[in-house]
Amino acid sequence: MNIRKGILVALAVSLFFASCSSSIKTTGAKPISAKGLKDYYKDFFPIGVAVAPRMLHGEDSVLIVNQFNSLTAENAMKMGPIHPRENEYYWKDADSIAAFAKKHRMRLRGHNLCWHAQAPSWMFQTATGDTVTKEVVLQRLKDHITTVVNRYKDYVYGWDVVNEAIDDRDSIFYRPSAWYKICGEEFIAKAFEYAHAADPKAVLFYNDYNTENPKKREKIYEMVKKLKEAGVPIHGVGLQGHWSVNNPSGEELRKSIQLFSSLGLQVQVTELDVSVYAGRQGGQLVQGRSDTTSNFTPEMEQQQRDQYKMFFDVFRQYKNKLTGVTFWNVSDRYSWLDGRGRKNYPLLFDTKRQPKKAYWDVVNFKAAK
Ligand code: XIL
Repeated sequence: MNIRKGILVALAVSLFFASCSSSIKTTGAKPISAKGLKDYYKDFFPIGVAVAPRMLHGEDSVLIVNQFNSLTAENAMKMGPIHPRENEYYWKDADSIAAFAKKHRMRLRGHNLCWHAQAPSWMFQTATGDTVTKEVVLQRLKDHITTVVNRYKDYVYGWDVVNEAIDDRDSIFYRPSAWYKICGEEFIAKAFEYAHAADPKAVLFYNDYNTENPKKREKIYEMVKKLKEAGVPIHGVGLQGHWSVNNPSGEELRKSIQLFSSLGLQVQVTELDVSVYAGRQGGQLVQGRSDTTSNFTPEMEQQQRDQYKMFFDVFRQYKNKLTGVTFWNVSDRYSWLDGRGRKNYPLLFDTKRQPKKAYWDVVNFKAAK
């Protein structure tokens, strides 16, 4: 099925669900206010959210449409899910997200084209199970990137091309992933070149976490600078923004935005959430809470409010450098951070999909720009 057919099917399915939900109005989430995050921030940058296809109908979809004007596929466009076997692509989930974005006139970020995690094992193996050569893996990477970028080129405005290639340990530069072990650092430049060839209009990002850790920030800067100097088509750096109530500080965040944008690159916060537990930064446990309680305590709430307010104060100050802020999941009802033996509460909407106090801290800012 080509993308037009795939997206028509996805549109028909979403219209069906829309008509179902309008006939059972009482169970549907009512708009929480006339304005959403996207409206409060319309003079600053788009506000996005990472979604799974199941969120595109029912109550999550109401919240998504009211609050956000950009989408990212939480998993559906990653290499493993979308390209499970060498000659087989699985388009359904990604198509449904692309169709929803188009229907609601939302932007769509592509995530991601090359990552050590959620990469299919066939990518690195021969039919007999040996490790493939550099030539083979680069050809496979090229085929993958060309096919995926081409399919979504009328939908996706920009891609996280390479995700998390830098190591967290101070003494190690590149992460020793299968990509790196087989190709050396060359896979990074190649991935950007393949993506640019497939869609010359797409904005291409390097995306990583712990980007506010001084050592890791420096390594990312060095790598990106080298890529730019070599003429590699790279246009932005994504700060994932998997942060916590303890870190990073406003100062470290500012330094990262300034340093990366000093290379003439745009910066986006691509996967924002604020864990209520002590975070790790650069492999070191940051001082702070170490309990494992599952309740969202008043103390956590206050710390998280302060942290969210500070982050958005900084984001607004850098509106000329920041071209997007995307949350990683919709509400505390479900977050990828839950799967670690304890419930987390990292987002701006609570488990009932209602705005938390932190939401109001983020949107009630002085209009002075
Ligand atoms: C996460 C998803 O949220 C999970 O559902 C999945 O099991 C693992 O990946 N950095 C990234 C994202 O770039 O793709 C990750 O998403 C979170 C960390």
